[in-house]
Amino acid sequence: MIPDAFQFPLLRDHAQPLHRQLYLRIREAILSGQLPPGARLPATRVLAADLGVSRGTVDQAYGQLLAEGFLLSRAAAGTLVHPGLESRLVGPRAGHACAANPLQAGTAPTEPAPPRPFQLGLPALDAFPRKLWARLAGHRARSLSLSGLNYPDPAGYRPLREAIVRHLALFRGIHCDVGQVFITSGFQGALGLAIRTLLRPGDPVWMEDPGYFRASGALRLAGARLMPAPVDRNGLCVDEAIRRAPDARMAYCTPSHHAPLGVALSLPRRLALLDWAERRQAWIVEDDYDGEFRYDGPPLPALRSLDRAGRVLYVGSFSKTLFPGLRLGYLVAPASEAARFAEACDLLSPAPSILDQATAADFLGQGHFARHIKRMRALYAGRRAALAAALQAECGGRLRLDGQPVGLQLAAWLPDGDDDRAVAARLSARGLAGQALSSFCLDGGHPPALLLGFANVPAEQAPALARRLREALDAR
Ligand SMILES: Cc1ncc(COP(=O)(O)O)c(C=O)c1O
Repeated sequence: MIPDAFQFPLLRDHAQPLHRQLYLRIREAILSGQLPPGARLPATRVLAADLGVSRGTVDQAYGQLLAEGFLLSRAAAGTLVHPGLESRLVGPRAGHACAANPLQAGTAPTEPAPPRPFQLGLPALDAFPRKLWARLAGHRARSLSLSGLNYPDPAGYRPLREAIVRHLALFRGIHCDVGQVFITSGFQGALGLAIRTLLRPGDPVWMEDPGYFRASGALRLAGARLMPAPVDRNGLCVDEAIRRAPDARMAYCTPSHHAPLGVALSLPRRLALLDWAERRQAWIVEDDYDGEFRYDGPPLPALRSLDRAGRVLYVGSFSKTLFPGLRLGYLVAPASEAARFAEACDLLSPAPSILDQATAADFLGQGHFARHIKRMRALYAGRRAALAAALQAECGGRLRLDGQPVGLQLAAWLPDGDDDRAVAARLSARGLAGQALSSFCLDGGHPPALLLGFANVPAEQAPALARRLREALDAR
């Protein structure tokens, strides 16, 4: 029987070759303490058969790890994790950067690793049209003109901004001028820009609770006073947030699909939120990170489409619709603030590489983007349904699934009283990357649940992964 540390899918269509993926997995298992010093590795023949790869693939991965001193080969005993590695220097650490970030748990520090089963926050990496992207990027790189080497517009490449304006009008119900659109380094870059432009240290900010930990982390780092705003089946509880902190300067919100629960902000609450912002002259950051992915109907219009008073800063990201390694996103500023944003952009966060922006502009402008999203919607609907069915069959008595058919992850509720962080730790020990809902909470007080990313779980792998998840639930 192969140990859990080796039970993970290798992706054939991944940018990294199979031997490299295997090398990274084993290295990560050693560094995290999952494979302690002295642990025996499976024979290459056995592991190759189990993973469905050639023996040469396993040989190459082992060979690299031997060369780097992670492994030791002993004729009789086979291959071991080097017993000379001090367990003080490997193994889980308090405050380790990877552990602090639930979306990247398990990522190797030097090079992104392939996705782990149930990893959150990722689109289907195996389904991205890499060849098409490479062709567009290659064309852009080859046709780079002399003036293309100059400093570009800090607000972003104009054709990309124009393509975004068209996309938002067609698909998100937002009508804006190209001068209001700023290209950023993903959502994170857009939030940084909004904070620098509009917030002062000490300003109170509503933060959804549970909510996206990278948003709360960035706001905290900027010196904002976080005001936890509870979330229920209708999204952010606007009345309660007003009761707690009526004079907040800003509200962070995920109206289309709450992160991480997936619920939509109801229309009465949307109107109440906009009304509060208008009366108090407060700002709303609308994080529309995966609003395109709704599987039982067309996407819901963005909150920004209802904003008549110009209080919403709309943020979009290409991390889910294209791929997160691109680090591209955008912010649509209210018309009244466009000049302030342009200045902050110029001085503090100019748009990322012109080549990536130009490639994205071609991808959008030539119609590939709309086609890709349409294809991904169908793929995700299928992957979500397959995982939900497999979980129901395997863990029906232990987990309850009740989320909306949206987004890229499922919320699986555990029985009351369960410790979701302990369950997530048992998953992690088996190479599975689901996350505890409580790791997204500020004030706590939410029933226990696991969040399971399904975008990278091919339908045919769902039953086996659900079985491994059940084994993790059963283990004590
Ligand atoms: C709630 C939320 N917002 C935004 C993002 C995208 O962030 P970025 O564009 O910085 O990759 C994510 C990614 O997982 C997310 O979960």
